[in-house]
Amino acid sequence: MLELAGVHGGYGGADAVRGIDLAVAAGEAVALLGPNGAGKSTLLAALSGVLRRRGGRALMDGADLMRMPSHRIVAHGLAQVPEGRRVFAPLTVEDNLRLGTIRLAGASRGAAAERFDAVYALFPRLAERRAQRAGTLSGGEQQMLAIGRALMSRPRVLLLDEPFLGLAPRVVEEIRRALEALRANGLTMLLVEQKLDIALGFASRAYVLVKGRIALAETTAALARRGDLASLYFDLAAGAG
Ligand SMILES: Nc1ncnc2c1ncn2[C@@H]1O[C@H](COP(=O)(O)OP(=O)(O)O)[C@@H](O)[C@H]1O
Ligand SMILES: [Mg+2]
Repeated sequence: MLELAGVHGGYGGADAVRGIDLAVAAGEAVALLGPNGAGKSTLLAALSGVLRRRGGRALMDGADLMRMPSHRIVAHGLAQVPEGRRVFAPLTVEDNLRLGTIRLAGASRGAAAERFDAVYALFPRLAERRAQRAGTLSGGEQQMLAIGRALMSRPRVLLLDEPFLGLAPRVVEEIRRALEALRANGLTMLLVEQKLDIALGFASRAYVLVKGRIALAETTAALARRGDLASLYFDLAAGAG
């Protein structure tokens, strides 16, 4: 579904991610793990086209995302839930959701009504608050809105950047269940997470990014059996030099 080979990207100066090879099969949920500053968000930004790419290939259904502008990437079926939610505080829930369709051409935008229904069914709290300004929502509700907005473009692949960050355990559980429902419906997901326990329970495979490179790629079942999980990032960083 998604196949990266030698992806480089960064912000000027040295590339923050270097030579990333990574694959996600259709319907699979894969975790992208790693310590703060490893390059996880940079890699997602390179994939969704909001960062200037410096090289490599990222094939999705035969087309190279690295050669597409960001609006075409959304139309091609890849959507991102950005780090830190980034909902538009003065706009209502419904208008924030509508923004998720703005980069689509007329025909695919036409299906918006049923997308609203699907998002509201997934997150009933958003339905209750559809006329409320996004800025008045709780952190968890804003995260639901950010996910809902990404779903409005009917993606086949969803990139999620630390969707559970700073949320209370009950809300984490609510959002995790929603993501599981999406996966059961066949949505392919790449989930960035710093906390191993959440990622291990959700994804089938994981890549660990350290200092801009893939330091480890393993099934989450194998990762969970490791005795060195607590020191994993530290040990990998030491190995990466
Ligand atoms: N907007 C930016 N401009 C310049 N450097 C950045 C920017 N965002 C992140 N970086 C740098 O790129 C590296 C990777 O950051 P990031 O991808 O945000 O890591 P992660 O998401 O894994 O915590 C870090 O060294 C960080 O300081
Ligand atoms: Mg990040």
